[in-house]
Amino acid sequence: MTATTWTYTDGEYPLATPTDARSMHAVEGKVVIVTGSGRGIGRGMALHLAKGGAKVVVAEWKDELLDSTVGEIEALGGECLGVVTNIMERDQIDAMVAAAVARFGRVDALINNAQTFRPLHDIATVTEHDVDVFYTSGVKGSLWAMQAVYPHMAAKKWGRIVNFASSMGITGGTGFAAYNASKEAIRALTRTAAREWAMDGIVANCIAPAAATHKGDSAKQSEGYKQFIESCPMRRQGDPEWDLGPLAWFLCSDACRYVTGHTFMADGGAFMFA
Ligand SMILES: NC(=O)c1ccc[n+]([C@@H]2O[C@H](COP(=O)([O-])OP(=O)(O)OC[C@H]3O[C@@H](n4cnc5c(N)ncnc54)[C@H](O)[C@@H]3O)[C@@H](O)[C@H]2O)c1
Repeated sequence: MTATTWTYTDGEYPLATPTDARSMHAVEGKVVIVTGSGRGIGRGMALHLAKGGAKVVVAEWKDELLDSTVGEIEALGGECLGVVTNIMERDQIDAMVAAAVARFGRVDALINNAQTFRPLHDIATVTEHDVDVFYTSGVKGSLWAMQAVYPHMAAKKWGRIVNFASSMGITGGTGFAAYNASKEAIRALTRTAAREWAMDGIVANCIAPAAATHKGDSAKQSEGYKQFIESCPMRRQGDPEWDLGPLAWFLCSDACRYVTGHTFMADGGAFMFA
């Protein structure tokens, strides 16, 4: 199903047909790169999009995690491509996008989910190495991937960029100095892309998630977890597939065509700031 596409005009749009209305919510056939999709939120989004018929490029630096997600998608009968990618290496990002284009002929959406985590420090003790890792993987990794997909999306006059922010950056969560700064830089890049690429048919948005990931039960003993649950109206963390997957789906679809430059807090209502 392909939704009718219109040339941009300030004039009135004709009413959508039922086929238009359904197809604009579809991701079927769309080529979506998901970085860090070997586990956690990236895996949840990759599986959800694959179940919707998207051709997912599983980009992940750990072979065994990559193989696991690729295996899960293939077991579902989905079409995917696994590309071992360290998003701290720009040449590997370029190769990831080139591999996606070589296999599928285009890239419709890029989800910059991966970021390399470091033990957290406050401003008084954060090191240059901490800052470098968060910035190289998060800020530069997202930027170079956006740059690599841009000509492919602009050529088709259609593209979707989904970047990953954090409520910690937005609220200035203590002890997260370098992480917070990198996440807010990613939001700034997203807004800039939203302005610079709007007339190329590309929209760019951020997700600020709260989701249960691999850290599992041990993380539930932490003070941070207890504080989160107390402040969350839904009293639970999100599920990578059931709670984050549908938002990623929307942001990769035609349905978000008039929504750009925004941050979506997918956190059960815990932080209502954006
Ligand atoms: N989980 C949350 O509640 C939460 C909250 C706020 C923001 N986030 C953000 O959401 C995103 C996903 O978080 P998560 O909790 O699923 O993380 P996670 O640690 O569970 O998964 C991250 C994935 O990225 C991969 N990765 C890490 N560094 C990489 C690199 N250099 N190259 C390629 N792959 C790499 C990891 O191997 C892993 O598969 C991150 O950007 C994170 O900062 C998560």
